Amino acid sequence: MDTSPPAPRKRVHIKTYGCQMNVYDSERMADALAPDGYDTTDDAATADLVLINTCHIREKASEKLYSDLGRLRDMKAERTDGASVTIAVAGCVAQAEGPEIIRRAPVVDLVVGPQSYHRLPELVARSRSAAPPVGEDQLAADFEPRAKFDLLPKQRRAVGPTAFLTVQEGCDKFCAFCVVPYTRGAEFSRPVADIEAEARRLAESGVREITLLGQNVNAYHADGAEGPVGLAALMRRLADIPGVERLRYTTSHPNDMTDALIAAHAEIPAVMPYLHLPVQSGSDRILKAMNRRHTADSYLRLVERLRAARPDLALSGDFIVGFPGETEADFEATLDMVRTVTYAGAFSFKYSRRPGTPAASAAEQVPESVKAERLARLNALLEDQRQAFNRSKIGTVMPILFERQGRHPGQLIGRSPWLQSVWTEAPETLMGQIAQVEITDVGPNSLVGRRVDTSPQSDAAA
Ligand code: 5AD
Ligand code: SF4
Repeated sequence: MDTSPPAPRKRVHIKTYGCQMNVYDSERMADALAPDGYDTTDDAATADLVLINTCHIREKASEKLYSDLGRLRDMKAERTDGASVTIAVAGCVAQAEGPEIIRRAPVVDLVVGPQSYHRLPELVARSRSAAPPVGEDQLAADFEPRAKFDLLPKQRRAVGPTAFLTVQEGCDKFCAFCVVPYTRGAEFSRPVADIEAEARRLAESGVREITLLGQNVNAYHADGAEGPVGLAALMRRLADIPGVERLRYTTSHPNDMTDALIAAHAEIPAVMPYLHLPVQSGSDRILKAMNRRHTADSYLRLVERLRAARPDLALSGDFIVGFPGETEADFEATLDMVRTVTYAGAFSFKYSRRPGTPAASAAEQVPESVKAERLARLNALLEDQRQAFNRSKIGTVMPILFERQGRHPGQLIGRSPWLQSVWTEAPETLMGQIAQVEITDVGPNSLVGRRVDTSPQSDAAA
């Protein structure tokens, strides 16, 4: 029997920037700190530990760290107990610029890269001890994803009816604009048994929809008892877990969209008909300069095959405008691509020069004003398509997974198979369950619906 007294309660405030993998990592860091007595709080001003989980993908995201640190320095100075507040920086900026953060921002007590989160409790405890670490000891930035996943606690705190689950990390693709291969390292796939065990625990705690995460999630490959397991085979196994009703995965590279994965969209009812499949540009010249290793045409043919497998499949994408050397004609090719594919959602970015990436030193950088003008035109087209997609659902009946309270009593907000927010009148007993809803109206960011059936149903039965 463990006779040690329970740890005194402390509060950790975690601020998360960037992608869903960071959201997952933040949750897992909170899980790792919980045994040491940390509860999470939304209020940085009363926290004992402030943890900033950073994103390095574009310059703007990176810069936010330093403005946050300025504010935290002032907060520490104003608080009477300021000296006891620990400030930690995690995530991709920590990995890329760790020593610089420590040098530039003395307010930071420790810096921990994405593969070292299992060491966070120990680092925090040391930092809060009488002889805090200095210099090198403030920085943990290994490149060992296996150790991280093996050593993070198995148990996760309750997360509601939807959850992220990281199955893969890192990237070997080296797109010419992207820092990910440098900050997150080489591709690594978690063992099937670990993922299954985590998914089972999530399902037992009430999770109905799991989004499998990876920087290159469809490059997932591991050895199972009966041979190699790719993402399609992994999803087949997860779909068999009682309680797992819905599966999604993100983010995918077009070149790793195998026949088996396309078939999974047709054959596994739990796999939702919504796929994030970034193309970045519609110009072959720019795709080549980006080192994407596919063409506009090969992407379009891939989309056709996916839609043949799953006719109601909707797509979202990522686009970069103003990549070095992009001409007006190249940009028009991107608009043409968008018109041909039609997207239900998308993320579009101005090209941002990232130190250490091949494109950063390209001679023909595009002026900011041109980037801004192109981004506005692309966004207008993508927004029209998103609204049209939402309107096309009016009058249809779809299964909705209810995940939170609406603004008014008696309302619940849920998710459609296409990741739309849908709000409807529904009893609280339906929270965390799936029910059939007829879409009656669309707003700018959500759909409105009416329940057509009072008994909960699964997507598979719909
Ligand atoms: N500049 C702008 N956008 C970028 N992305 C990645 N690197 C950059 C960059 N240097 C975008 C890509 C990617 C998404 C996650 O971020 O579109 O798919
Ligand atoms: Fe970055 Fe390209 Fe890898 Fe995606 S596939 S993480 S854009 S290098």
